[in-house]
Amino acid sequence: MHVRRLRPDEWAALRAVRLRALADAPDAFGSTLAEAEARSDAEWQAQADPSDGAVFVVDGPAGFVGLARGGPAPIDVTYAALYSMWVAPEARGQGVGMALIDAVKAWAAAAGYPGLGLGVTTTNAPAIALYRRAGFVETGDHYPLRGDTDLEIQIMALPLEPAGQTTPPAGEGPDGRGADRATGRPGRRSP
Ligand SMILES: CC(C)(COP(=O)(O)OP(=O)(O)OC[C@H]1O[C@@H](n2cnc3c(N)ncnc32)[C@H](O)[C@@H]1OP(=O)(O)O)[C@@H](O)C(=O)NCCC(=O)NCCS
Repeated sequence: MHVRRLRPDEWAALRAVRLRALADAPDAFGSTLAEAEARSDAEWQAQADPSDGAVFVVDGPAGFVGLARGGPAPIDVTYAALYSMWVAPEARGQGVGMALIDAVKAWAAAAGYPGLGLGVTTTNAPAIALYRRAGFVETGDHYPLRGDTDLEIQIMALPLEPAGQTTPPAGEGPDGRGADRATGRPGRRSP
């Protein structure tokens, strides 16, 4: 299955896959289904066209079967973070999750970030195993998942190879690291 960048005009399909992910795996994400359902079309349009991040999807026969986002990390915006990772149950176990991680890693390296982090619920053994296989290691930091549950996330991080350039390559668009470094703006986040 092929991982590709979401097009900005695909915001309704982004909404559909995100709502499916939140309904399927509510304990895996910092946002709730109710919060996501309450978002306006304008908010989904902004999420589909982030100024400081990238959205990756995998097409399936009836909508997206894979989703992952890259963006500035919540606490230290000099690092990138992996958000919204989800593979549809019918597409799991075929390497789609690893391919999505690879896409976000490549985006973050090309944008000049020195490392990629993520937060994963401490009880989510399949995801933790996948992240370890991808080279992520636990930092030892833990945070609450959300206010409405006792679940915790553990932070995992992966150093990135320098991309060998200080500016984003042609075609990377306005989400390059340079613009973000200039403003220091953390941008929108929805783990
Ligand atoms: C965690 C998640 C993203 C993994 O997605 P995935 O596409 O199944 O991941 P992969 O296929 O890359 O790897 C998962 C397993 O498939 C195996 N696999 C990979 N390629 C394979 C292939 N070609 N054929 C058979 N198995 C394969 C992997 O070895 C791995 O096996 P294991 O975990 O039993 O050792 C998915 O389970 C999911 O969306 N879960 C719910 C949401 C979630 O937890 N998100 C994470 C938030 S932090």
